[in-house]
Amino acid sequence: MSARSEDATRKRTEKLDPAAFIQANMRLAPVPSLPEIRLYLAHPGSGLRRLLEADDADESGNDPQPPYWAYAWAGGTVLARHVLDRPSIVAGRRVLDLGAGSGLVGIAAAKAGAHEVVAAEVDRNGVAALRLNAEANGVAIQICHEDVTTGPPPAVDLVLAGDVFYAQEVGQRMMPFLDRCLAAGIDVLVGDPGRAWLPRQRLCLLAEYQVPDVGGNGGSEPRPSAVFAFVADRVSPPARSPLSRENPAGRRPIPE
Ligand SMILES: C[S@@+](CC[C@H](N)C(=O)[O-])C[C@H]1O[C@@H](n2cnc3c(N)ncnc32)[C@H](O)[C@@H]1O
Repeated sequence: MSARSEDATRKRTEKLDPAAFIQANMRLAPVPSLPEIRLYLAHPGSGLRRLLEADDADESGNDPQPPYWAYAWAGGTVLARHVLDRPSIVAGRRVLDLGAGSGLVGIAAAKAGAHEVVAAEVDRNGVAALRLNAEANGVAIQICHEDVTTGPPPAVDLVLAGDVFYAQEVGQRMMPFLDRCLAAGIDVLVGDPGRAWLPRQRLCLLAEYQVPDVGGNGGSEPRPSAVFAFVADRVSPPARSPLSRENPAGRRPIPE
């Protein structure tokens, strides 16, 4: 191998420092629909491929995960909007931001007065991004860099799950964990624009918003996305008026 191609291979396989890469190549900007929150976001010149190619060299042989953390997903955006507009949902409570990505949901919870926020994210680049994003927004967030879905329910009062039903196997891992959380008395809210693997029969609609989705960065049209309460399994939902006295929270099953 020539010295030149050896050098090219070395450069390609050298591990990059994700935090340094993010700060040097991504743009710290307000999130569309969430002007209160600034995130390091991808843009056409951010060259994220270089960071992923470096991960490619990982001895694990696993495919590198796409940079989900480099975007504000519609599901997380609506959850963040929801808690910023209704701070009593999180005020004084211990909150888990499940599948945190950029950390926008946890950041919103911290800004809205949560007592403690833990952000769980399996991607090491995502962990670097959410640490930088928390700092940029002046909030303290504990980071859990492991698959929390395999363990017992964490010591929190509320789980916020923003856009975690984007793939079948991920959704299948989330469901038993969320069920264990419910059984332990932990409230669970889900934010989602209606992706294919959303467990509709387990959700009650709380609020709907129009927000841009991934890839938007201000450029994509807003589309409907919703916040749901994740509820225990039941045979058939009661047919009640959404605003009846028996249903004071205005919760209603979502349309199929
Ligand atoms: C579609 S992104 C959403 C990110 C963020 N919540 C938002 O709405 O912008 C889903 C994130 O969940 C993370 N994830 C997937 N499975 C996970 C698990 N078992 N534990 C923690 N994070 C997980 C992925 O790495 C990815 O960053």
